[in-house]
Amino acid sequence: MLTLKNVSKAFNSGADHVQAIQTLDLSLAEGDFLTIIGSNGAGKSTLLNLIAGTVLPSTGRIFLDDQDITSVPAYRRARSIGRIVQDPLAGTAPDMTVAENLALAMKRQGRGLRLALPRKLRIHFRDLVADLDIGLETRLSCPVSLLSGGERQALAVLMATLVPPKLLLLDEHTAALDPANAAMIVQLTESFVDRSGLATLMVTHNMEQAIAVGNRLIMMHKGEIIHELHGAAKKHSTVDDLVDLFSRRHIADDELLLKRMPETSAVAA
Ligand SMILES: Nc1ncnc2c1ncn2[C@@H]1O[C@H](COP(=O)(O)OP(=O)(O)O)[C@@H](O)[C@H]1O
Ligand SMILES: [Mg+2]
Repeated sequence: MLTLKNVSKAFNSGADHVQAIQTLDLSLAEGDFLTIIGSNGAGKSTLLNLIAGTVLPSTGRIFLDDQDITSVPAYRRARSIGRIVQDPLAGTAPDMTVAENLALAMKRQGRGLRLALPRKLRIHFRDLVADLDIGLETRLSCPVSLLSGGERQALAVLMATLVPPKLLLLDEHTAALDPANAAMIVQLTESFVDRSGLATLMVTHNMEQAIAVGNRLIMMHKGEIIHELHGAAKKHSTVDDLVDLFSRRHIADDELLLKRMPETSAVAA
């Protein structure tokens, strides 16, 4: 359903030239859940940005459901591609209430509706939010700026999947959260993805998470996919296996090794 063919991305020219993505091919089938790991600057965010359309490739083509979307602007891709980033503020409108944010998400995804909230819609939102099971249903009229990071990111997951997109892009969306909230958000993400069967790409700094979640895993380094695992091979991998793979490639990235410890994630900037 998603295909990247010969996609590369270079930023700047001359002395500032950065080859963020080397020539890369990647395909996702319906329902694939791909986790992505790699050291800092490996090109993980750029890969997601290329798919979302916020960054345009230097070479290559990108297809979604056989449609060439390489030149489709990001705002139009947003109808079929949901996206959540690390900063819990980024996915929501902080000055608007929880209910207004949900209404906005529906509107953005092509469901026309007025922002004044009809009673039925409010009840619908209350039920949706109650499903998150974090007590947010009593705070529909609360501005999002007053929610905790975990609550905001839970709302962002709900908003991104409210009208299920074809594809979901998650860029370290749990990295700014404490361990308990990070676990809650991963669990929510998995249950939304399972329910709708949408294809998902999730960048994570947490190798345990990368192994536990999804059916495929890629390891990136210097703009290349240097290793790929799926199915049973992925399920039966250990963090030590992944670290071995990195070190066999002479990737002695201190930060990467630090990240073996899941709870050092709070330092990820
Ligand atoms: N907008 C940009 N302009 C210039 N260089 C960029 C830009 N975005 C990313 N880069 C560079 O591209 C490389 C890959 O970055 P990124 O995709 O953010 O890596 P990751 O998410 O794996 O840490 C890095 O060297 C980064 O500095
Ligand atoms: Mg990144």
